[in-house]
Amino acid sequence: MLSQFKVSQKKLLEWYKTYGRHDLPWRNTDNMYHIYLSEIMLQQTQVNRVREEYYPQFLQKFPSLKALSQAPQSDVLAAWSGLGYYSRASNLHKTATICMEGLPNTQEELIKLPGIGKYTASAICSFGHNQNIAVVDTNIARVLKRFFALLNPTDKKIWTNARTFVNEKDPRHHNLALMDLGSLICLPKSPKCEQCPLKDECQGQSEPEIYTKTKKKEYIALELFYGIYIKNNQIALEISRERMYKDMLILPRVEPIEDDFLANFKHSYTKYRLNVKLYKMEKADDEMVWIDLNKLEKAPISSLTKKAFKALSHQEKFQKC
Ligand code: ADE
Repeated sequence: MLSQFKVSQKKLLEWYKTYGRHDLPWRNTDNMYHIYLSEIMLQQTQVNRVREEYYPQFLQKFPSLKALSQAPQSDVLAAWSGLGYYSRASNLHKTATICMEGLPNTQEELIKLPGIGKYTASAICSFGHNQNIAVVDTNIARVLKRFFALLNPTDKKIWTNARTFVNEKDPRHHNLALMDLGSLICLPKSPKCEQCPLKDECQGQSEPEIYTKTKKKEYIALELFYGIYIKNNQIALEISRERMYKDMLILPRVEPIEDDFLANFKHSYTKYRLNVKLYKMEKADDEMVWIDLNKLEKAPISSLTKKAFKALSHQEKFQKC
């Protein structure tokens, strides 16, 4: 079928050939596990951090779905340490145990697996199998809202427009090109419309900002108090039950006692702006886990906990506690 968008689709692919991010490792593989892993890591994390600090290291530790399924969950969480949104790692592990021999190859089946939503299922099918389907992430949604002049559209409306726009001759590169156009040209603020391959057909070009008006972000300031108990070069940590940090090892919360104050630091995650204060503790509960200070690197700890050790390492009092 001849698409009404043939001209735009062609310009988009030509632009991608020259300006697309072809060097990203997960775009140069047909290994479905690698593609799946990259999509999970990229959900809340910037491309460069994933590419440099996490993706190759994770694949080295867990080279296949089978290897991942056979690893203890704590090792998987430890490899995710510092990346945040730890349910991504536990869901990845659960999915590996369900699909040890390989992932399904339809959106319908993929979406039933832990941690795989509509975006990830379509990304796997499009980028991994070149299926003729739409992919919509935040970058692509912005491009489409402008291109089709969609003011406050529902997600359903954006996906419908995305489907009408897919280039059935090369859906994989079409979707990757839209993604790159969103992150390199069709920026939320001050889009570079003069460099855009779709500028002649874009219906939102005269007022690109009206399609990206979002609610002002609200931040919550919190003060949190954590306890430090070190004995025989080991530290006492707790297994978290909180959704955000489920099964990670965290510092125990304490009531602050001024004389026991050790250090403080600022930390941000999602909408929280935290002032974290650390206090010396006198005893540990039975269910706490003891971790060797020199093995902390390999423990499933969050960025907040890592920062706590950094703050403490500058403290003279800490060396003695
Ligand atoms: N290439 C494939 N998927 C990607 C993603 N989610 N972010 C950036 N580049 C990608």
